[in-house]
Amino acid sequence: MNIVILTGAGISAESGIETFRDAGGLWENHRIEDVATPEGYARDPDLVQRFYNLRRAALKTVKPNAAHIALAKLEHRLLRQDGSVTLVTQNVDDLHERGGSTDVIHMHGQLTSVFCTACNHRWNHAQDIKTGQICITCKTSDTTRPDIVWFGEMPYHMDRIEAALSSCDLFVSIGTSGAVYPAAGFVQMATAYGAQTLELNLERSQGSHYFDDSQLGPASKIVPQWVDAVLNEN
Ligand code: APR
Repeated sequence: MNIVILTGAGISAESGIETFRDAGGLWENHRIEDVATPEGYARDPDLVQRFYNLRRAALKTVKPNAAHIALAKLEHRLLRQDGSVTLVTQNVDDLHERGGSTDVIHMHGQLTSVFCTACNHRWNHAQDIKTGQICITCKTSDTTRPDIVWFGEMPYHMDRIEAALSSCDLFVSIGTSGAVYPAAGFVQMATAYGAQTLELNLERSQGSHYFDDSQLGPASKIVPQWVDAVLNEN
């Protein structure tokens, strides 16, 4: 069985990472256009760096929950049975990797990666980006930015994701509100390619009616249950 899984902020909520659109979520306290657009960064780079520095630092205080760990177990077990799990995440945290998943497609970038807008070099960086930060390759200062896909920018790895959607048996969406495209359109793409579709979420998402089935509840409970059910059937 070949499964494509899309995760969103809801899978990391019980680890202590804020979601975006729930009550008290990040977009209630910050304006998207200020901290998550190229224009906002051009206007006030220090504000944007502070926003992501705080979120990068917060990674050190959280750990993967049962849902991240269950998806890693599914990947390893299906591989042994000639199946596959393609794990696509909109999350910029590193909890899937720390939960044991080995091949995570970060379509919206990663907090622990940065790049230089002068020479485009990318590197891993777990600390704050400081004022005057120097690019490790071209040595230009103040050109290092978070490797995060902002609104108006092109998500990463779309070719690989579409190829996986076109050949999967099952598409599963976990912990995402379905408010942001292109990820919100994966369910329709998977359906058009002939896959079954399942949503696992705390509540019905915006595109819930596009799914063949929905299971509602906290990710740390319903994701391990679903993984066990899949592994028992295979
Ligand atoms: N278990 C399962 N689902 C949960 C849980 C939980 N414990 N807590 C919250 N959820 C669900 C919410 O009900 C909601 O449907 O997770 C979803 C989170 O939605 P958003 O906050 O909109 O996050 P996400 O869908 O990942 O956002 C997509 O928007 O701002 C951008 O780039 C950002 O990648 C992000 C994208």
